[in-house]
Amino acid sequence: MSATTQGNARLTVADIARLHAEGTRIAMLTAYDYPTARLLDEAGIPMLLVGDSLAEVMLGYDSTVRVSMAEMLHHTKAVARGTRRALVVGDMPFLSYATPDDATANAGLFLREGGAQAVKVEGGVRTARAMEAITRAGIPVMGHIGWTPQAKHGMGGKVRVQGKSRDQARALLADALAVQQAGAFAIVLELVPEQLAAAITERLRIPTIGIGAGAGCSGQVQVVTDMLGLSVDFTPRHARRYTEMGQAILDAARAYKADVEAGVFPGPENSTRMDDAVLDDLLGRTLMDRAPGAADALPPAIPLDRDL
Ligand code: KIV
Repeated sequence: MSATTQGNARLTVADIARLHAEGTRIAMLTAYDYPTARLLDEAGIPMLLVGDSLAEVMLGYDSTVRVSMAEMLHHTKAVARGTRRALVVGDMPFLSYATPDDATANAGLFLREGGAQAVKVEGGVRTARAMEAITRAGIPVMGHIGWTPQAKHGMGGKVRVQGKSRDQARALLADALAVQQAGAFAIVLELVPEQLAAAITERLRIPTIGIGAGAGCSGQVQVVTDMLGLSVDFTPRHARRYTEMGQAILDAARAYKADVEAGVFPGPENSTRMDDAVLDDLLGRTLMDRAPGAADALPPAIPLDRDL
């Protein structure tokens, strides 16, 4: 990790800007819970996004539009509690920034109640006023353009790479500039052709964080369940599985079930013994009433003559 991010203090948007200025590629991951956030923080991931992908990958909804502010805040709190260094970004859910006033109030909740240090808002030109209102309130905001899942019904319903045609590419460039102009400190480019993402990156001062947008972005973000091999149904093409935790969980659960059924879990190392004399006293039994061999197992501290 760069010299600018050493130490124990929590990273700020100024640190992210400095990493970008130094040419360090920024590795962001999503996080939704306390133990995973702790591990990702310990691994030195500088930015954790409590994405509204929470809806689909953790809560089992069929769309991100189903997740509420209350659910987002609940998980943001857990991630904030699990981190000491990472900058935590709360993803503003569907309709939480429909007006600039809503945007400011809900972004404030992510910081005040959720413990995040920044928020993310989908949309470019169409949500620039909301982003401006949030930044004017002193809340760092990250933009998100290209494929924006909350607008999927308005975008034809099918997940698609955005910006392949000249008109779409021009609109995406305008979106990127609008996000920067609104005061965002970074921008996610989702499902954008790599040449266009690189061209947008070159034209912006703020870092671009790509997902399915090629290697020419200033950083990358992945949905952590994809990266860990935990996605139940499918893994998108733009994701790389760095481990197979889904298989590890299956193997562990099967081994546990077999151990319980065979009576080998828990073992002595997982159990606690009490002073048998206390139990004898309680149950009114003598040493001879105990199970065969039990007398031999008496801890040396117990006086034998007591039961004779
Ligand atoms: O919700 C999310 O996980 C996201 C990332 C894909 C950027 O918005």
